[in-house]
Amino acid sequence: MRKKIVAGNWKMNKTRVEVDAFFDQLLNSNYDGEAELIICPPSIYLNGLPQKSASKNIGVGAQNCHYESFGAYTGEVSSDMLKELDVKYCILGHSERRTYFNESDEEIGKKVSSVLNSGVIPIFCCGEKLDERQSDIHFQVVEEQLSEALFSLDPDEMLKVIIAYEPIWAIGTGVTASPNQAQEMHAHIRKLISNQFGNDLADKISILYGGSCKPDNASELFSCKDIDGGLIGGASLETDSFLAIANSF
Ligand code: 13P
Repeated sequence: MRKKIVAGNWKMNKTRVEVDAFFDQLLNSNYDGEAELIICPPSIYLNGLPQKSASKNIGVGAQNCHYESFGAYTGEVSSDMLKELDVKYCILGHSERRTYFNESDEEIGKKVSSVLNSGVIPIFCCGEKLDERQSDIHFQVVEEQLSEALFSLDPDEMLKVIIAYEPIWAIGTGVTASPNQAQEMHAHIRKLISNQFGNDLADKISILYGGSCKPDNASELFSCKDIDGGLIGGASLETDSFLAIANSF
């Protein structure tokens, strides 16, 4: 059985007070669903959160890191630093990083290796733009993203990776990929992993869907064979909607 995961990507949102209020509510909830919960707040709030949420087995993740361990990289945070705070996960290659910070597949690949070396689990994001889907090259685009950043990993490293398919046209737009569109791409991703690393390994990789996933569409998406959960933006900012999505399995 693959791990089911519902992860919240808070992006650049929330104040310290709001972070504490969210975690107090989450930790006081009686969530006992089958999906593992992960919250990825802005890095400045990470310190202390893994310890605070350990009792309820809630994972804490960063949204990005640098691929070097230390050095003259003003404003950056390394995966070793995340590990030192007991941060378990790190989102890498989010389309907002690719678009606004010009992250290339090559750079994202270096980040994936760096977080794995530090003992942090990458949540690797991939997904096509609207015009790429309209030109019918979406499968090819995602294949390139995966092969450049992940396919030179050793199998035991690859086994640790979580993948999030996030079609860019669905992020923050209110337009969700239909369950068919999402399932088709997830199956494609699993097939690519299988071609590279074998069926057994591909079967064990959790592939999450992201892009306007909400309480009212999550259960239909999560019931698809190759969709193992979600990477949630806007709807992860409130405990109620985040838990409603987690309870959609
Ligand atoms: P939304 O759920 O707000 O569309 O964002 C998805 C996302 O980018 C998660 O990483």
